[in-house]
Amino acid sequence: MCGIVGYIGENRALPVLIEGLKRLEYRGYDSAGIAYLKDGKLEIKKCKGRLACLDPMVANETIDSHVGIGHTRWATHGEPNEINAHPHMSFQSKIAIIHNGIIENYMRLKDWLIEEEGVEFKSETDTEVIAHLIEYFYEGDLLDAVYKTIDKMEGAYALGVIAKDEPDKIIAVRKDSPLIVGLGKDGNYLASDIPALLQYTRNMYLIENDEVVVLTKDSITIYDELKRIVERDVFEVTWDIESAEKEGFEHFTIKEIFEQPKGIYETLNRRLEKTNTINLDGIKITKENLEKINKVYIVACGTAYHAGLIGKFAIEKFAKIPVTVDVASEFRYRDPFVDENTLFIAVSQSGETIDTLSALREAKRKGARILSIVNVVGSSVARDSDDVFYTWAGPEIGVASTKAYTTQLIAMYLIALQMAKTVGKIEEVYYQEIIEELKKLPEKVQQILDNEEQIKQLADTQFNNEHVFFIGRSVDYDTALEASLKLKEISYINSFAIQAGELKHGTIALVEKDTLVMTIATQSKLFGKVLSNIKEVKARGAHVVAIAQKSNQEILKVADEVIFIPDTMDEVAPILSIVPMQLFAYYVSLARGNDVDKPRNLAKSVTVE
Ligand code: AGP
Ligand code: GLU
Repeated sequence: MCGIVGYIGENRALPVLIEGLKRLEYRGYDSAGIAYLKDGKLEIKKCKGRLACLDPMVANETIDSHVGIGHTRWATHGEPNEINAHPHMSFQSKIAIIHNGIIENYMRLKDWLIEEEGVEFKSETDTEVIAHLIEYFYEGDLLDAVYKTIDKMEGAYALGVIAKDEPDKIIAVRKDSPLIVGLGKDGNYLASDIPALLQYTRNMYLIENDEVVVLTKDSITIYDELKRIVERDVFEVTWDIESAEKEGFEHFTIKEIFEQPKGIYETLNRRLEKTNTINLDGIKITKENLEKINKVYIVACGTAYHAGLIGKFAIEKFAKIPVTVDVASEFRYRDPFVDENTLFIAVSQSGETIDTLSALREAKRKGARILSIVNVVGSSVARDSDDVFYTWAGPEIGVASTKAYTTQLIAMYLIALQMAKTVGKIEEVYYQEIIEELKKLPEKVQQILDNEEQIKQLADTQFNNEHVFFIGRSVDYDTALEASLKLKEISYINSFAIQAGELKHGTIALVEKDTLVMTIATQSKLFGKVLSNIKEVKARGAHVVAIAQKSNQEILKVADEVIFIPDTMDEVAPILSIVPMQLFAYYVSLARGNDVDKPRNLAKSVTVE
């Protein structure tokens, strides 16, 4: 949920830390801080607010330190303020640490440090316990003190540690929260994710759980939980840093909405061979595998969960295999039925969402086969899966997920079609028809994007609504859920989605004059029913904006406004119908003066439970 960064080498550390934190700020931004060693002293500078709050503190060009760590926070324990900001210092001011994650047993450790050792805590955070524990165990060997400390800790953590008495090293630790180490020509780096280091190096080590790393200016040593040295191949990053920049767009969010034709094309066409046979990157879902499978779960959070709902529809429709979709944070705690005959599909853009990762590990422990759909290469979810289907959406920086969602849908359709072919449940003609339609979607999405002006005008007239309804039937309801989340998270309008047929069972009591009801109406077989639902709400004064396929001109007679999407097959309409809703949410957010890329209270990757 937060961002950590560190550097040790020939160059000045502070510019590296600040630049790295800029690229990590989307991960959490309610306070920021750095710690560095200079002339035998350990210095800390930190502040409440966005990273820029550090500027006046680091403007002094003479801070010539070559070892430092930095942190941008998304608070879990203790409100966002300067005292709770990281880095945190130990009680003798010899150790400074930064932390991403949650120490679940911190209260017990804190009570013991206070009662037994008389330690005086300054902050309300769980993190501060770590700094004091390392100091408590420190007897001249920092690595040893770190091992003794993590042995006492329960929870999730990616740590960066520096010590006044050992200025030649940084120690990094990984447990569940993400950690990357970069090999540079003028020094070595640590960070929460790859974009923070791309301007310095493309050569990374992907750190595994329970590993401890010692970085010096010219060496990197990785240890396992028993302090044995681990050999690790260098992972060379092929991304270009520009793809993580805005490339002329005002925000990452709108850039990523407009990158969807490319993302859909990349995700789809890399897996289509001649005669439209699907190659799932070597994922072996064989006939015997599938015949053994008697339970399929799709488990995820937020937008990825909504993609899972479409995945359920596709697998059940094409492969005739029943699917259960679950919110990851619920899955773990309802004692789900999982065994070696279970297929567990995890969906995650970041691949670091701890709820999803924990659910995955629970299913794996019970014998399930793990297939994950992930956007970040080498992320934790990917590394813990038996098979990974990467959505080639490119880095998604905007907190509201857009291109990751549509590429997750492509992944779902391909997996469903491959399963259907494997179990012989789909007619070849229908299979080819769907594949051919999927191949047309990048162009059809582009047509919607070309019509953004109509959607911008709609947003300009509707941005002041206090409440917005999203309604739909079947996959249109699934789309309504995602459309509503998009609007909520970047405009802060209280919107919600409800099955169109369910409205009359109570919720319609909320509809009054000018209530905005966004109606997703792409399913031709259900159009008559949706028409009745539109009339129901209009009879109570609602203002209805419908999203429908171009050939459905009848909708013009009943809806107040219509946003048309290009004609397509009903089955794959969800990939198109969400795009106008993404644009709508974006322009409403702009009209309300919000920070679209970094909405309040949110973070891009939720790596705490
Ligand atoms: C989506 O717009 C949200 N930012 C959020 O709900 C997100 O989808 C959720 O946290 C899951 O993230 P993941 O896909 O990286 O696992
Ligand atoms: N739990 C720590 C805190 O609240 C770290 C949170 C984070 O990962 O940003 O400060």
